[in-house]
Amino acid sequence: MRGIILAGGTGTRLRPVTNVVSKQLLPVYDKPMIHYPLSVLMTAGIRDILLISTPHHLDAYTTLLGDGTDLGIHLHYRAQDHPRGLAHALILGRDFIGDDQIALILGDNIFHTPHLADLLQHERRRLNGCTLFGYPVPDPHRYGIATLDARGHLTRIDEKPAHPTSNLAVTGLYLYDNEAVAMAHDLTPSPRGELEITDLNRAFTATGRARLVPLGPDATWFDTGTHDSLLHAAAFVRDHQHRHGHPLGDIQHTAHRMGYIDDTQLAELTRTTPTDRHLTAPHP
Ligand code: DAU
Repeated sequence: MRGIILAGGTGTRLRPVTNVVSKQLLPVYDKPMIHYPLSVLMTAGIRDILLISTPHHLDAYTTLLGDGTDLGIHLHYRAQDHPRGLAHALILGRDFIGDDQIALILGDNIFHTPHLADLLQHERRRLNGCTLFGYPVPDPHRYGIATLDARGHLTRIDEKPAHPTSNLAVTGLYLYDNEAVAMAHDLTPSPRGELEITDLNRAFTATGRARLVPLGPDATWFDTGTHDSLLHAAAFVRDHQHRHGHPLGDIQHTAHRMGYIDDTQLAELTRTTPTDRHLTAPHP
């Protein structure tokens, strides 16, 4: 399976902060936002990852993350000249994907659940068409919203509905079989000229090949696209790290936990760029 992180867009809702800085490089407590979705893909066992951003910001990502060798992964980069929609990532990434399956994650989404590795690796094995992950939200008009039937089967998805039929958001992590690439090509662009991910997911739903997996009551999920949600996410990471004493979204420790790097490599990485200084509460 190949991973793609979408870290472009205009960051309109976070202006003026995003006038000069890519949204997905903003700090979420003690790490750049992009570390969190990267860590999720690594946790899913994915080691070939394409990062897509704007032509203007791509250099900053290559400077931050390099080619991934020090994390035992392979990072590739691609510019998206214009925000052409989330499903456009599959078209931009076509050569990178080849005939493999795909995990697409949004660069501004933060996931935490105690058994994330088990969940993602289990869902990778079960994938047949498209797998989405659901999370209940208090403000469904901000998201893609899923409707399930009495047996829990996905029957419909509405993008930012004015009159939501449920409060179950479709989060920004999507697993696809390879046919999604051809299906993305066949999508009709929205009036804004974007290839909508919800249209792609609807196409899978229409053929009965889309599943929605609820993230469950132990999970926490943030779309950090607004000032308030960014602040909430940062507070969550800080509180979790102080309480439990282990880092969230830490790509170095994820690489070690997944066996991509050994003890010596981790020691060298943490010596040169320590990431675990903020695990205990500061003294008053
Ligand atoms: O966060 C989950 C939600 O993400 C889903 O519930 C929605 O169904 C889905 O459409 C999406 O909604 P957003 O309003 O959050 O999408 P947004 O346009 O903000 O884009 C999400 C991320 O992808 C953001 O970090 C910017 C990046 N992006 C976006 C577009 C349109 C790109 O890199 N390229 C693009 O062309």
